Amino acid sequence: MAFAHGYGKITSGSYRVLLELAQSKKILFFGGKGGVGKTTVSSATAMARANAGGKVLLVSTDPAHNLGHLFDRKIGSKPVRITAGLDALELDPGETVENHLKEITESLYKLMPVNLHKEIDKHISLSRGAPGMYEAALLERIADVIEDGKDEYDLIVFDTAPSGHTARLMVLPEMMSAWTEGLIKRREKADRFQEFVRELGQDTSMEDKTIGGATMKEQERESHIRRILLRRRRKFEQLREQLSDSDISSFVIVLAAERLPVLETIELQEQLQEANITVECLIVNKRAPANSGEFLDERHAQEEIHLQTLTNALPAIQRQDIYLQPQDVVGIGAVETLAQKL
Ligand SMILES: Nc1ncnc2c1ncn2[C@@H]1O[C@H](COP(=O)(O)OP(=O)(O)OP(=O)(O)O)[C@@H](O)[C@H]1O
Ligand SMILES: [Mg+2]
Repeated sequence: MAFAHGYGKITSGSYRVLLELAQSKKILFFGGKGGVGKTTVSSATAMARANAGGKVLLVSTDPAHNLGHLFDRKIGSKPVRITAGLDALELDPGETVENHLKEITESLYKLMPVNLHKEIDKHISLSRGAPGMYEAALLERIADVIEDGKDEYDLIVFDTAPSGHTARLMVLPEMMSAWTEGLIKRREKADRFQEFVRELGQDTSMEDKTIGGATMKEQERESHIRRILLRRRRKFEQLREQLSDSDISSFVIVLAAERLPVLETIELQEQLQEANITVECLIVNKRAPANSGEFLDERHAQEEIHLQTLTNALPAIQRQDIYLQPQDVVGIGAVETLAQKL
């Protein structure tokens, strides 16, 4: 019978890789294709660490917010207690985009005359949908969660959205730093240009003008916007450092033992490696149990062929397999059962 193999039975690789990672790292990211079991496995790992006496924060970065569905309760952007030692929250990047834009708008309002405020609104409204805006906000929230939680929690587990998105997000601190850098440079150029125009058109002997023609007040407002951007850049740089430090952080790829997921896993690992992020564990979820009838035996054998490709491509990365269960993993009890058998 399929169930006889139980949750979390290991078919190959090192035993209890996930649990070891959960014990030894401070930050764990779970990524992979849609529907492979990221939410399920990351939640069970978080719970296993909590059961072992740790204080754990489980964070969903997926806008589909499936932690709430899994635990069948409302989970918001502030930590809620799931069980002893385990808190959870769901990030809301939309909220962060709005806060960030509001802060910039207010600075621009102060900087520009009232008759230009409509223009500012138009510009900000366009920026809302600009490429990178949502990702930048998500990263900023990830950075904040780590910063706020790193002393309180022994482990922070991130359950992410499907892989393409995750990989993009993981290389983002670098991209985002470059992006903010560009904005800051443009700001500086604009400042210099404004100064130049002022110098051309104004009497520089006027008393309330400083060098370059801008009043002190104007310069202060300008530097306020630059400060907002610099603050963001600092956060991204710090996040980058933490994520690429394999003593602190690790990335777990969850996959199914099928051809395309295997190929995509190999590709995702490459992308993460380029971004200096270590993948220390591959979770092959929903494996067909062996010795469970002809059909499943055949399926199991087929999976072994795909997994051979995986092992050949990534021989140094440990693997843990989790069997397909007869029922979906839903609710705190089911996660608990899985956690105990990880
Ligand atoms: N080992 C397993 N055996 C049986 N069902 C499983 C197993 N692992 C996960 N599931 C089920 O598969 C479905 C998808 O799992 P889950 O939501 O964890 O995937 P996901 O990778 O987070 O998906 P998404 O990409 O949509 O966020 C769920 O219904 C879950 O209960
Ligand atoms: Mg999910």
